[in-house]
Amino acid sequence: MTELLTQTVSIAVHGDILVATTDNPPVNALSHSVRAGLGDAIATFESNDSVRAMILICAGRTFFAGADIREFGKPMHDPLLGEIIARLDGCSKPIIAAIHGTALGGGLEVALACSYRVAAPAAKFGLPEVKLGILPGAGGSLRLPRLIGVEAALSMISEGRQVSAAEAIRNGLIDAIFEGDLKDEAIGFARRIIDAGAHIRRASDLFIPSYDPALFEAARASMRKKFRGFVAPQKAVDLVEMAARMPFAEACEPEYATCKELLGSPQSKALRHMFVAEREALKIGGVSTDVVPRDVRKVAVVGPGTMGRGITVCLLDAGLSVVLIGLSDEGLSKAQNAIAKIYDSALKRGSLSADEMERRLSRLTLTQSYNGLADVDLAIEAVTEDIAVKAEVFRKLDNALRDDAIVATNTSFLDIDELARASRRPQNVAGMHFFNPAHVMKLVENVRASHSTPDVLATITTLARKLGKMPVMVGRSEGFVANRMLSKRTREAQFLLEEGATPAQIDRVLSGFGFPIGPFALADLAGMDIMAAARATRLPRMSEREKRCNIVDRLVAAGRLGQKTGAGYYRYDAKRTASLDPEVDAIIESHRRDNGIVARVITDEEILERCLYAMINEAAKILEEGAAARPGDIDVIWTNGFGFPTYLGGPMFHADRIGVRTIKAALDHYSTLVGREYFQPTALIERLATEGKGFYG
Ligand code: CAA
Repeated sequence: MTELLTQTVSIAVHGDILVATTDNPPVNALSHSVRAGLGDAIATFESNDSVRAMILICAGRTFFAGADIREFGKPMHDPLLGEIIARLDGCSKPIIAAIHGTALGGGLEVALACSYRVAAPAAKFGLPEVKLGILPGAGGSLRLPRLIGVEAALSMISEGRQVSAAEAIRNGLIDAIFEGDLKDEAIGFARRIIDAGAHIRRASDLFIPSYDPALFEAARASMRKKFRGFVAPQKAVDLVEMAARMPFAEACEPEYATCKELLGSPQSKALRHMFVAEREALKIGGVSTDVVPRDVRKVAVVGPGTMGRGITVCLLDAGLSVVLIGLSDEGLSKAQNAIAKIYDSALKRGSLSADEMERRLSRLTLTQSYNGLADVDLAIEAVTEDIAVKAEVFRKLDNALRDDAIVATNTSFLDIDELARASRRPQNVAGMHFFNPAHVMKLVENVRASHSTPDVLATITTLARKLGKMPVMVGRSEGFVANRMLSKRTREAQFLLEEGATPAQIDRVLSGFGFPIGPFALADLAGMDIMAAARATRLPRMSEREKRCNIVDRLVAAGRLGQKTGAGYYRYDAKRTASLDPEVDAIIESHRRDNGIVARVITDEEILERCLYAMINEAAKILEEGAAARPGDIDVIWTNGFGFPTYLGGPMFHADRIGVRTIKAALDHYSTLVGREYFQPTALIERLATEGKGFYG
């Protein structure tokens, strides 16, 4: 008979085994009612002499996915997780964690405090706290190295690496993997171990043999490089070193204190905000969760250029079939070679097997014809950014595709409604704006056209997720969100250059802020010809000053196309190591001279404020226009698209931390210094500043 202990935890006695089942959808987070229920289950177990073992199992899609993130920052009610875990550890009879789905964070800590752990074959295990800017605080970082060794535990705790059931059984994290019904198997397992007279086992009783301190120094150096600017990964290494040095009982308190301190840190708040924002971004306004996405198995990609190739690779990687359509044999064979090169380097890195590469390539057809597309479910158009050329592709696709097939354009700035008008199926038209290189970059701006139906929007969201991307739905607006904001930062970086800053100073300030690379080093990487071409397309809509500020064109004219020609804003040696180049200073100086500009000293503060606040002001305009649905969507776009540091929570979250009033005052100042047309605060910023509010209320 099943007895409900709390809203989320029930118990049932199976002979001499007690089974405690948690059912707290969607992911069995360890919320208050779960903790209380587990406390009651432990008490029942301890007081009932007729039961000899207890099984902790979860209903639904997963074992405990950790502490309830939504409870963070609110007053916590007893029993706390640490207390439950201490009681599990102190039990006088064996407890078995039966794990399916993912045992994460506090969920894995619960399992680690049990005597035994058994799992379904697809189960995964991890301590991802570091990704939320915190660390395990209930003995997880002390028990794990005792159980699986310091080195294996280090990567799980400091990088948040998850391990499969196969790896977990090899390293001793779990005791058995069961293919059959997990509850029945776990009951059988429990009975076998108690019949065999098995004792309770405690990871906390295990002893860590001597370790090499150099391991921790190497881990610290690696964390500094991999997670530049993040606090928690460094602290994780300290914690595991402490676990290795100190007896378990002594280390509990400092472990909890570290977790608590990090929980209140600005980085953790920002990272937790990102966790929620990324999930919110998948909820599309006007598209209810009941809407069923269409099935997409085969995709036509039109345009075998750089974007088309990258998109093709990520579709093949996700198991889809692709027809890549081009205009000429030459274009298609170039694409084929480029795709083969991408796979070859994956092969060399060991991230892909030869068999798997063959399988992926066998799903690719290259053709110049639009015939035989009746089984294509969705087409992605990635041809030249020319409305007439794209409209022609839309018309051809109309004739070739089934009526219910979707057409998505990869345009980065053209009006999708205008393209939809060229189609007989405007309801099936939307945008999927990938970023270059498309097989690497995580962000996809999905664009809602005026007539896109809810199931089309749901389909492109699901497809992007299947490709391993982070899709964000945006509205129609030139440059959408990411590039529209980036163009303001680019403008300011160029203006600052002509006013007196150097590329190296601006790059230093922005990478010091947390961007992975400064704008000028990035331009050299992307290619100055690409930057000049992007500038040329925007030229008709530029202000007089922007038109005049043509340093990019001057560099291109001097043959400085970036890393590929050994010179751009910097000079590059054969290993592509950058150094300063006086020729660049001379080109910038000649631009100033030609335009009567006298260089002045520019502070780092001015550089940061102008680059950042110009973006934030544009973002506010985007929100006013409804081109982005929520500030969180903009944060997700910038952290996934252009490396805005996640530990600052994205531009809008960061803006709130600075304070909208402070930003408005700075915008007013730069309106005077640079020009009102560039820095006039938007109505939204004016209003928020007056009301003393932030973008997040
Ligand atoms: N607390 C509260 N809600 C959570 C949650 C958690 N730990 N984990 C996931 N959710 C919610 C999500 O917000 C989402 O809610 P909505 O549907 O309302 O958007 C829902 O559960 C489903 O989540 P996903 O969309 O992410 O589902 P998925 O199937 O793609 O992934 C998952 C499932 C692997 C469990 C993933 O959600 C995940 O990685 N969760 C975070 C796990 C984590 O970080 N745990 C550690 C927490 S900190 C801790 O435990 C330490 C401590 O004690 C202090």
